Amino acid sequence: MTRPVVYRSAQEMRAFTRSAKQAGHRVGFVPTMGALHAGHLSLVEAAARECHTVIVSIYVNPTQFGRGEDFDRYPRDLERDLDLLAGYSVAAVFAPSDREMYPDGFDTWVQVGRIAEPWEGACRPGHFRGVATVVLKLFHLVQPDIAYFGEKDYQQLLVVRQMVRDLNLPVDIRGCPTVREPDGLAMSSRNQYLAPQERRGALVLFESEQLAQQLVDAGEVDAARITQAMRDHILRVPYAKIDYVALVNPETLEEVSQVINPVRAILSVRLGSTRLIDNMEIRPKTLSSHQQGSGNT
Ligand code: PAJ
Repeated sequence: MTRPVVYRSAQEMRAFTRSAKQAGHRVGFVPTMGALHAGHLSLVEAAARECHTVIVSIYVNPTQFGRGEDFDRYPRDLERDLDLLAGYSVAAVFAPSDREMYPDGFDTWVQVGRIAEPWEGACRPGHFRGVATVVLKLFHLVQPDIAYFGEKDYQQLLVVRQMVRDLNLPVDIRGCPTVREPDGLAMSSRNQYLAPQERRGALVLFESEQLAQQLVDAGEVDAARITQAMRDHILRVPYAKIDYVALVNPETLEEVSQVINPVRAILSVRLGSTRLIDNMEIRPKTLSSHQQGSGNT
């Protein structure tokens, strides 16, 4: 199994895509910050299913981290990531330097709109501005036909979709389901920060989402009662701190008061110094199993 070729400069990356396109290839793109796990690899597999040429970017984007966040300790191991990708059909990895992405004098930003305001946007001011700006730059450099994003970062997926619509970017966005550990914890590069006790406590995120679905299945429609039950469950872990727990409209992210259509349960919980996010579709009881299969993204 061969490792993908690594490009560090914008120029090399552009030249590679140009030749792939000249060969008539459809180019699929998976942007990541590295520390790859099975969640990332599921995006790579989705890309390989429908594209001839798959490009993965690995870049820990400084502009999407706030002051005091985990930019410095974010796990970085390019060699390990390249070994992992050798098992997949990845044509190239784009791993630019900070200088390449943000040269001296860089001063233009994507101004994200209302979809970026609540939830993660409120907890992490400037985060989605950094995400949208780097994703737009990466799209220009890689020039993909299709780009793959995880539902794990549900608001990010909506922010990217909105940007693509509003700025007429010639790229299709695919949302891919969250990959979980066997016990239900959503895979995340940040899970490695968790101490063993915190790792056990982290299960309350998934459990509270399942609880929400169980309550709805049992006939509960009141969103306030459901989110209260979710909070109560999470706070059984004494060191858990809730940033938010909400049931929201899956397109607008506005809170709903009743679960009569499919909604998204979204949550962010801090366990010690680690902040985790998760989300899950919650289906109303009255929908038939046929309708339940249709996703929101
Ligand atoms: P990162 O956190 O590395 O995630 C890269 C992609 O993998 C994102 O689309 C994310 O939603 C997806 N992903 C992460 N965990 C997943 C899981 N358990 N199941 C399925 N998909 C998962 O998200 C970013 O990087 C950055 O913000 C980026 C888009 C690269 C811009 O810097």
